[in-house]
Amino acid sequence: MASFLHLLLLPFFINPHFCTANITLSSSLTADDGTNSIWASPSGDFAFGFTQLNNLFLLSIWFNKIPSRTVVWSANPQNPVPKGSKVQLSSSSLGLTDPDGRLVWEAKPAVGSSPISYASMLDSGNFVLVSNTSTSPDAGYLWESFRNPTDTILPNQTLNLGTTLYAKLTETNFSKGRFALRFSNGSLDLLPVARPGDSFYDRYYTSGTYSSNPSETGNRLVFNGTAQIYIVKGSGDVAPLRSWDFVTYRQDSYYRATLDYNGLFTEYSHPRNFNAGGENPSWLPVQSVPDNICLAFFHEYGGGPCGFNGICSMGDSSRPSCSCPPGYASADPADALAGCRPNSPQGCGFGVLDNNVEDARKVYEIRKVDGVDFPLNDYEKLQLDDESVCEDSCMRDCACGVAVYDGIRCWKKRLPLSNGRVWNNTLVRVMFKVRKDGVTTSSGFPEAGGSDGGRSKKGVLRALLGSSVAINGVMLLFGLGFLLRLRKRRVEWVREGGGGGMEMSGTLRSFSYKELEEATDGFREELGRGSFGIVYKGVLRSGGGGSSGVAVAVKKLDKLAPEREREFKTEVNAIGRTHHKNLVTLLGYCDQASHRLLIYEYMSNGTLAGQLFALSKPEWHHRARIALGIARGLVYLHEECQVPIIHCDIKPHNILLDDGMTARISDFGLAKLLLSDHTRTKTVIRGTRGYVAPEWFKNVAITAKVDVYSFGVMLLEIVCCRKSVEMEMEESGEEEKAILTDWAYDCYAGGRMDLLVGKEEAATEDGGRLKKWVMIALWCVQEDPLVRPTMKRVVEMMEGYVEVPLLPFPSSCSTLGGHGSSVGGDSSWG
Ligand SMILES: *[C@@H]1O[C@H](CO)[C@@H](O)[C@H](O)[C@H]1NC(C)=O
Ligand SMILES: *[C@@H]1O[C@H](CO)[C@@H](O)[C@H](O)[C@H]1NC(C)=O
Ligand SMILES: *[C@@H]1O[C@H](CO)[C@@H](O)[C@H](O)[C@H]1NC(C)=O
Ligand SMILES: *[C@@H]1O[C@H](CO)[C@@H](O)[C@H](O)[C@H]1NC(C)=O
Ligand SMILES: *[C@@H]1O[C@H](CO)[C@@H](O)[C@H](O)[C@H]1NC(C)=O
Ligand SMILES: *[C@@H]1O[C@H](CO)[C@@H](O)[C@H](O)[C@H]1NC(C)=O
Ligand SMILES: *[C@@H]1O[C@H](CO)[C@@H](O)[C@H](O)[C@H]1NC(C)=O
Repeated sequence: MASFLHLLLLPFFINPHFCTANITLSSSLTADDGTNSIWASPSGDFAFGFTQLNNLFLLSIWFNKIPSRTVVWSANPQNPVPKGSKVQLSSSSLGLTDPDGRLVWEAKPAVGSSPISYASMLDSGNFVLVSNTSTSPDAGYLWESFRNPTDTILPNQTLNLGTTLYAKLTETNFSKGRFALRFSNGSLDLLPVARPGDSFYDRYYTSGTYSSNPSETGNRLVFNGTAQIYIVKGSGDVAPLRSWDFVTYRQDSYYRATLDYNGLFTEYSHPRNFNAGGENPSWLPVQSVPDNICLAFFHEYGGGPCGFNGICSMGDSSRPSCSCPPGYASADPADALAGCRPNSPQGCGFGVLDNNVEDARKVYEIRKVDGVDFPLNDYEKLQLDDESVCEDSCMRDCACGVAVYDGIRCWKKRLPLSNGRVWNNTLVRVMFKVRKDGVTTSSGFPEAGGSDGGRSKKGVLRALLGSSVAINGVMLLFGLGFLLRLRKRRVEWVREGGGGGMEMSGTLRSFSYKELEEATDGFREELGRGSFGIVYKGVLRSGGGGSSGVAVAVKKLDKLAPEREREFKTEVNAIGRTHHKNLVTLLGYCDQASHRLLIYEYMSNGTLAGQLFALSKPEWHHRARIALGIARGLVYLHEECQVPIIHCDIKPHNILLDDGMTARISDFGLAKLLLSDHTRTKTVIRGTRGYVAPEWFKNVAITAKVDVYSFGVMLLEIVCCRKSVEMEMEESGEEEKAILTDWAYDCYAGGRMDLLVGKEEAATEDGGRLKKWVMIALWCVQEDPLVRPTMKRVVEMMEGYVEVPLLPFPSSCSTLGGHGSSVGGDSSWG
């Protein structure tokens, strides 16, 4: 698989102008589209040359073996050059000239130093100009890209005091952006940049390594050869950066640390060799500072991490995301951090200054939002015990853009607002005063209260918010008598562009029961019986009435609990909005009279259970690909789709295989619909015996970690091609093998992973992966949900980006529960 992939990618990497020797005087490169030549490092890891941005070019250095271009340095981020521009080496400089011969940028030795004799793109990613007098290379560099960084540093790069890195403006615009990393005065500081001009506002992160004592203060910032970033003090001792840990170094990965456009300083890794799964891997963050950039800002000046009037929230991936308040729209849709502006002008001029509230209400309305905060911009603070008095006070005051009320205090704020963030204080209500005649583009922000007008729409918003709290709030069980600790998210974040989550997705088709009856030939061919109903095969005739049709699977749901009936469409739409190659696609639904049916794509290769437990087991590498696909599908459900979904019933019977034997998770999103108080008496727990996490039996919160547990059990089944519980083994005297998780742990502890796969050569020869995956599975089935990794971490470990830690000892992985876990607080899975 891996070598096949290599063959596929090779043509992109081999460049006809591949150059490993020194770059001699008068060599040059020209910016053109198509046959761009490059100067590559001897290993080919890095290249120097032109990177095309739309129709302009950036003179840059990038990782040359990674398919998606990752620029680590650029000469002219502020002024990309047109086609035909040229970079040329002379004994006095390396100069970039545009087609008219004007000098755009140059690198030259310090005045008085010896002339350049050649240049070199080194394997470290450093591009150097070298003098002929140098005896030792390091001493003789006349100029180095490592000493003139843009937004990225690389392993083996050291920064001296007085260096500044600037973030890009956006992901694709390389101009100097809104944030800077400054290493000066003994510490590494992250600062917002005040534009125009190059001054800084107060820092939002500091490494804390400044000292007035010269031997104790930071002297050099080091990114060492084994991917550690730290500061070396005057005395030569190492000083770690605040809230920055040493990372697990992997020789088979590339590393870089970048001040991202969103203000985070992040260390990333990327595997050097792409294998597992056959997909292009990407850069994964190893760690970043500050921990929560939304809260790190508290500045009198500047708009904050999301710009003026913007609201910052931390996504699950610890990246910030920005949105706008109701009545406001993004100032620049192409630039998420550009802030928001009111949809229509605010302010005075309508004769409402200190006028009566009724006049003001003709022009303005108040739109309320809970769960956000703007900590600054106050100009009045009133003690009031009535929210409506606070509201009226803002309404009649033309300077007031927003009022914040917390039950006893009313803060009035003027625009523009800064440092907006999601804030979990349930007491705080933010009231935005917006013009009634404003263009009402949806801000994607669910509103809190009953202002008049647009009620029905808000009703939908609230309903959706309610359901998202339920699903995303870490639980799917309703009224099951468990003590569920809800992690309430008060605000549902909708992707940029707004409104996306609010309407019916439109791609789902609504079927009549009669149509489905015909399609399934009267529900004749049963494909399977699941936890939620019976699945039938059907064929949909395409519109023209031709003979060929599309095969579908029609799921007739068991009768819904009455209180779930009205949620059917909402839930179905949530399912309809999921799009991932490892999920079964929902095509449509039927919601007619008492009939509730779901129409899915038909999966020709049946269930994973059918394949796994058949007489001839699927090949090892097929199984590996399937396992990875399922893991990725779960990451999507848990973290990436619009409304996070906990599956609650992961098992091989719910994994389908398509024509290409790609794993597709089915039956997700249904757990919530089909549960009610009534079912409680019949089925105490959701899920299937052998796969259910121990917390189902306890009075603790049900989180996405229940899926992690089930996945762990299933991963072992995929590795071993046997069921998790095989009671026959007990009878045949092999009781130690009856419970797969226990047996796997014994095999792991005894260093005999090979026993798990019998004599299967492909698996034993792939010993590294076998051991790693069994360990991952054993981590997943840890009794304490907090100790289990997230699915995201599982994927990272399976793909080899992240080392699998040693398992706690003795075993705490028994499915039967009981003995306490010996795992301490040292395993943190974020
Ligand atoms: C580059 O030039 C230097 C000095 O002439 C020489 O020592 C070195 O071997 C050359 N390197 C390559 C790869 O040609
Ligand atoms: C860093 O430098 C060391 C010693 O010169 C070298 O062995 C190592 O390959 C370098 N690492 C990188 C990533 O360039
Ligand atoms: C280096 O270059 C200078 C100027 O071209 C020349 O005078 C000198 O002899 C050269 N030195 C060596 C060691 O080649
Ligand atoms: C990047 O942003 C700057 C500042 O807004 C703008 O002037 C420039 O045209 C942009 N460059 C590109 C390539 O979009
Ligand atoms: C260096 O930083 C310290 C602490 O942040 C500050 O007290 C001191 O004034 C700074 N010195 C200079 C020269 O900026
Ligand atoms: C990098 O730093 C870490 C921590 O100080 C150290 O253990 C490791 O040996 C260093 N690696 C190199 C190549 O210097
Ligand atoms: C949100 O509120 C809950 C309960 O009050 C609290 O446990 C949690 O830490 C809060 N989260 C944040 C991000 O403040």
